[in-house]
Amino acid sequence: MFGLRRENGLAVDAAAQDAHLVLRRAAPTLVAEDIHLVYRDGNVPTKALEGVNLRVANGEFLCILGPSGCGKTSLLRVLSGLVRPTQGRVYLDNELLTRPSRRVGLVFQAANLMPWRTVLRNVTLPLEVAGIPLAEAERRARALLDLVGLAGFEQAHPAQLSGGMQQRVAIARALVQDPVVLLMDEPFGALDALTRERLSLEFLRIWSTRRQTVVMVTHDIQEAIFLADRVLVLSPRPGRVVLEMAVPLPRPRTLDVLYTSEFAALAREARGAIAQA
Ligand SMILES: Nc1ncnc2c1ncn2[C@@H]1O[C@H](COP(=O)(O)OP(=O)(O)OP(=O)(O)O)[C@@H](O)[C@H]1O
Ligand SMILES: [Mg+2]
Repeated sequence: MFGLRRENGLAVDAAAQDAHLVLRRAAPTLVAEDIHLVYRDGNVPTKALEGVNLRVANGEFLCILGPSGCGKTSLLRVLSGLVRPTQGRVYLDNELLTRPSRRVGLVFQAANLMPWRTVLRNVTLPLEVAGIPLAEAERRARALLDLVGLAGFEQAHPAQLSGGMQQRVAIARALVQDPVVLLMDEPFGALDALTRERLSLEFLRIWSTRRQTVVMVTHDIQEAIFLADRVLVLSPRPGRVVLEMAVPLPRPRTLDVLYTSEFAALAREARGAIAQA
């Protein structure tokens, strides 16, 4: 019994090492160098980020964990080009990122759909803004709605959907421009635990079909480890990276992995880093 477990452990380690080598060989898609961010719009300046470095490989799934208020959303805003850091630089495919780009898709905690537009037209919106002809925009939007399991709901309005379905529309809308990088800020945070679990699984299936580079923020340790190739833990504000942890669990993953000793050990390490910080 004990030997078998060791054998399993070794098999997992070998797969992880392979995955790690592949990632190290690929040029990083998204690079953040020495990011500092100070908000100066209040009475006193708020230091949100301090010396954050990260390199995300092409096709990598990175999760960022950290306590509330530590600067996770701030970091995603910097990575999206929406906010200029006080110091430091962000590169997307070796190009300096200084403003929002169509090559970066964003999904936030709230779906932020347009209530007066149908599901289909919510997903076509970014393409309409980009001047893509409507027929082509609709074709692409329908394919994505199918991918996220919402075929048949094209003509519904957001208010007719559950929270989980709305979040899937938001994911389809972010993917419709075929972004190089998908940034997600607690995308399942507003959902109940079971829906959250189901949507995580579903998102892994969607991700496996496209292998977009993903950076996802969460404060759920289990969610981060279940989804990611690598987890970064940020300290309380100002956010600094206090742990970088590879997640060598084989893919495709099912919920059974949550009950393995490998998973428990990773969760313990992440929890320890958060507690220590
Ligand atoms: N526009 C802003 N102006 C001033 N301070 C801000 C602004 N946005 C965020 N902050 C401050 O920066 C810090 C980090 O905020 P941020 O929203 O990045 O945290 P977070 O890790 O995403 O938190 P949560 O987990 O609660 O979403 C907080 O102290 C917050 O008050
Ligand atoms: Mg946040």
